Amino acid sequence: MDIKKQPFGQTNDMTGVDLYKLINLNGTEARITNYGATLVALTVADRNGNPGDVILGYDSLEEYVNGSNYFGCIAGRYANRIAGGRFRLNDTAYILAQNDGENHLHGGVHGFDKAIWQARKIEKDEGLGLELTHLSQDGEEGYPGNLSVTVIYTLTDKDELRIDYSASSDRPTVVNLTNHAYFNLAGAGCGDILDHELMINADRFTPVDKSLIPTGELRSVRGTPFDFTRPTVIGARIDRDHDQLLIAQGYDHNWVLNKALGRLCPAARVMERNSGRILEVHTTQPGIQFYSGNFMGNRIAGKTGQLYHHRGGFCLETQHFPDSPNRPDFPSTVLDPGSRYEHTTMYKFTTELSVSAQ
Ligand code: GLA
Repeated sequence: MDIKKQPFGQTNDMTGVDLYKLINLNGTEARITNYGATLVALTVADRNGNPGDVILGYDSLEEYVNGSNYFGCIAGRYANRIAGGRFRLNDTAYILAQNDGENHLHGGVHGFDKAIWQARKIEKDEGLGLELTHLSQDGEEGYPGNLSVTVIYTLTDKDELRIDYSASSDRPTVVNLTNHAYFNLAGAGCGDILDHELMINADRFTPVDKSLIPTGELRSVRGTPFDFTRPTVIGARIDRDHDQLLIAQGYDHNWVLNKALGRLCPAARVMERNSGRILEVHTTQPGIQFYSGNFMGNRIAGKTGQLYHHRGGFCLETQHFPDSPNRPDFPSTVLDPGSRYEHTTMYKFTTELSVSAQ
């Protein structure tokens, strides 16, 4: 078990950025940079013990600075969309950066994915930890309050990557943090993810309007291509003539998790048959955005000379529902001074063989 630190490059204003490698007893390795608190790589064994990197990303800092896919980053202050880039809180109207048509997406033009975080190695009972902190200034991208954010990545010897998020503010504000990793369990760059089998622990999802803002309805998934309550191949229904799939050009929706708030509960499970790799996602959050990489171009130059294809990765972004600041009926994303935002998500890796051998 070890954490190694090496330089990752310099930003335009000459600030040095580092890359941290966390390696557990099984040889599973997570690479994280303090630019955007980004998960750059996650190398896990397949069913034959062969290691493979299952996270899409870039080799250089420069590509992360210029990139627009949110590969592996922490998205915030508000991950996902806020309609019209506006919300009201305690009778004050706030106007946010509009960086997705009229809407606000993933914290704006200079979201947490473009911030340089402070990093510190920590030892935890469960494994190796990297603590990243960031102070988001009052007024940044239009949000009220100085927000102090901490994200801790912990790699355990059970091949779990746990992410603990916390935040506090000196004024009432809204917060929604997530990790935006794109996974391909066959290995990053190994084709598309359409043959991965997905299960989402959700009976309902939040349908969206043409600009991907929830309509407010919590709709049953039953009888629709959104029903992943039983393991289903991602590509089986993705191109169906269904209004919600046509709007998003595939899956790019929030599912309402079947769970009690606050507890770390099973949210999703994905299996890739050739490698035998299985990913389980557990979270304390009420929702999960399943994004099937619909807006990825067809030849994105990724790590180690690999080309990433359209739908070459999927995201499972644990979160509060999109546009919650404008939806009093959705679980609240308001953070008041004196309270603490806390959220935990855990990605656990096994293989088909290791599961049946247990
Ligand atoms: C999220 C959004 C998508 C897309 C990606 C980044 O998952 O929901 O619509 O913007 O981020 O490309």
